[in-house]
Amino acid sequence: MADIEARRLNATLGLGHDHRAAYGQFFTPQTVARFMASLFDFDDVPIELLDPGAGIGSLTAAFAHAAGKRKIHASCFEIDAHFQSDLRKTLQDLPNVNATVLALDFIEATVRKLTLDGRNAYTHVIANPPYKKIGTTSLARRLVSKLGLETSNLYAAFMACAIAQSARNAQIVAIVPRSFMNGPYFKAFRYWLLDRVALVRIHLFDRRDMAFADDKVLQENVILKMVAGGEQGNVVVSSSADDSFADLHEHVLPFDEIVTPGDADLFIHVPAPRAPRSLTLKGGSLQELDIDVCTGPVVDFRLREHLQSQPLEGSVPMLYAAHFSGGLQWPRDGRKPNAISVNAQTRSWLMPNGCYVVTRRFTSKEEKRRIVAHVLPANALPGERLGFENHLNVFHRSRHGLPESVAKGLCAYLNSQAVDDYFRTFSGHTQVNATDLRRLKYPSISELEAMANV
Ligand SMILES: C[S@@+](CC[C@H](N)C(=O)[O-])C[C@H]1O[C@@H](n2cnc3c(N)ncnc32)[C@H](O)[C@@H]1O
Repeated sequence: MADIEARRLNATLGLGHDHRAAYGQFFTPQTVARFMASLFDFDDVPIELLDPGAGIGSLTAAFAHAAGKRKIHASCFEIDAHFQSDLRKTLQDLPNVNATVLALDFIEATVRKLTLDGRNAYTHVIANPPYKKIGTTSLARRLVSKLGLETSNLYAAFMACAIAQSARNAQIVAIVPRSFMNGPYFKAFRYWLLDRVALVRIHLFDRRDMAFADDKVLQENVILKMVAGGEQGNVVVSSSADDSFADLHEHVLPFDEIVTPGDADLFIHVPAPRAPRSLTLKGGSLQELDIDVCTGPVVDFRLREHLQSQPLEGSVPMLYAAHFSGGLQWPRDGRKPNAISVNAQTRSWLMPNGCYVVTRRFTSKEEKRRIVAHVLPANALPGERLGFENHLNVFHRSRHGLPESVAKGLCAYLNSQAVDDYFRTFSGHTQVNATDLRRLKYPSISELEAMANV
């Protein structure tokens, strides 16, 4: 096994960044591969293993090791000719593996095979699929749509192709970016996936870049274990700080704490590692408070000609996230405009001057909190209207301002530790969208007013 780790490091060193990005090549460290392999249950049925995008074969090797003396037939797909010889060497060294190396495009080969003979043969899948965007007109995208899935990322396409070829009750273990769990672009994939597999295990890494420290991949990864056609039961959620798995701990959660029943987005929540289990927010919906939240209506590049660096006659304040950094400051010197003209083209994108609560849609991953809220007091700014730029979320009541005491309480609530902890249970990325904020539970108006006075 030490040979494989050396082979892996060698294979990746030899390739340029662009080549690796083109094929989505991030290789699994041995500790991670072994952990993944340890998640399989082995019984004595013949093993038909699939390793799609096999690289130099680290995952098949770890699987073979975990399977002990059991005989395995492995199908290892690898499109890149650079790895063929290392892959073959790895496979030759595995006494219990009879392998077929397929130097083919896995997506194309899957769709062709399923069209010709619909047999789903794999009993086990171990995968670290390539991570790469695929364009609307790409062949991969068109092919995978034949499996009933529209997706914009190759890793989702790979998972779908692997699952489509899996036998009933096949076990599938994959390491993938966490983005599919709540990203808006992966909604169709979540439906596709959860219709076909039971989620059995989710493993998280506490720190973003540790699963592939030597590849400096900043994607947040998760390891999933799924059972094809399985009945959904409880889910084991585990976490570790890094790929040594030294501090591994796990808990078992009912599936409806992972995917909220009735959630049309099918977001997959994963409680933050080491967070107390009772992480839920109490309260009602925003709608019950007669409050809503929208994305800042002004998309600045569409209205560029109406923006001004300083307020002039006939203009009103234009607010960007930068105006709230370190407390409201308007006008502010810098690259961002401070004002927008009021005219027929801009009027419908402006909101009446008033008291609003705003949050930034994007925070950096180093920031302590994901949701950072500010109150914009009524009349803090001149003019009858305000322009809120698209990188802000704005809490409002019927597109008008909020009572100041409610806004202050709402701001305090959004900035609380409880909200931040809860938010992290379902969001792996640093983006906070209006839909995310709408999904939170909120205290009543009187509770918010009380919070305003604390
Ligand atoms: C993320 S790497 C993982 C490699 C290996 N499984 C591991 O865990 O170390 C993905 C691999 O998929 C291969 N790949 C990319 N696109 C492919 C395709 N369409 N068909 C087959 N292999 C592909 C890449 O060359 C790369 O080796």
